[in-house]
Amino acid sequence: MLEAIYLKVTINCAMSADGKIALSSRRQTDISNEEDRKRVHELRNTVDGILVGIGTVITDDPRLTVKREYVEEPKNPVRIILDSKGRTPPDAAVLNGEARTLIITAEECEKEFPNAETVRCGTDRVDIAKAMQILEGMGIRSILVEGGAEVMWSFLKSRLADEMYIFIGSLVIGGDSSPTAAGGEGAESLEDTVELRLRNAEIVGDGVLLEYEVVK
Ligand SMILES: NC(=O)c1ccc[n+]([C@@H]2O[C@H](COP(=O)([O-])OP(=O)(O)OC[C@H]3O[C@@H](n4cnc5c(N)ncnc54)[C@H](OP(=O)(O)O)[C@@H]3O)[C@@H](O)[C@H]2O)c1
Repeated sequence: MLEAIYLKVTINCAMSADGKIALSSRRQTDISNEEDRKRVHELRNTVDGILVGIGTVITDDPRLTVKREYVEEPKNPVRIILDSKGRTPPDAAVLNGEARTLIITAEECEKEFPNAETVRCGTDRVDIAKAMQILEGMGIRSILVEGGAEVMWSFLKSRLADEMYIFIGSLVIGGDSSPTAAGGEGAESLEDTVELRLRNAEIVGDGVLLEYEVVK
C-alpha cells in the first residue's frame, strides 16, 4: 500500500477564453500577459520543484527557471520531467545545467541525460503517485505542475493536485485539436469528473485569474 503523500502540488496554466492552452498545431502561443508572467515566476520561486511532461519539453522546449527580471533573488527550483521512455532531447533547454534537473522515466528505461539525474518509477509509464513519494523522500515538499494537457489531467484525476491556478487570456484559439487545460482520456461520466472549489477570481491586467482547490 502506498503511504500518504504530504507533498503540496499546485497546477498552473494559461488558457484562452475557449479553454485552449496552445495552438491547433500544439505549438505554444502568448496567452499570458506581463502581470501574469510575473505572478508565475514569483510562484515558481516559492516551490521546491517545477514539473512538466515530455510533450511540453518536445513542443515548447521550456527552460523552467525563475527569471531575474521578475524575481530579485531567483532560487531556481529543481526541474522535473515525466518522460517514461527517455525521449528528452540531449539539447533540450531543461538540460542546460542552469538548475538541477530530474528526469523521471519508467523502470525499464535505461537512458541517461547530460546535466540531469534520473529517477525510475512505474512500469511502461511513470507512476505519478510513486514519483511523488520518491520526490518527497528527496526532501521536495512542494511542486508546481506547469503542463501540459495530459500531465495536468493525470494529476487532477489521481487527486494528487491540491490546487489549480488558471489564467484566462483574452483571446480565442479554437480548433478541435488544440490542447485544453486537461487532456488525456478525460471523464466518461459525471462521476469521473474532477470537482474544484473556487477560492478566488480576480482581474489581472487584460485577463482573469481563477484559483481553485481540488476536492478530494
Ligand atoms: N498554456 C499553458 O499553460 C501550457 C503549459 C504547458 C504546456 N502547454 C501546451 O501543452 C501541450 C503539451 O501537452 P501534452 O498533453 O501534449 O504533453 P504533456 O502533458 O506535457 O506530456 C505528456 C506526456 O508525459 C508523459 N508522461 C509520463 N508519465 C505520465 C503520466 N503519469 N501522466 C501523464 N503523462 C505522463 C507521457 O509520455 P511518455 O509516455 O512518453 O512518458 C505523456 O504523453 C503543448 O501544446 C504545450 O504548448 C501549455
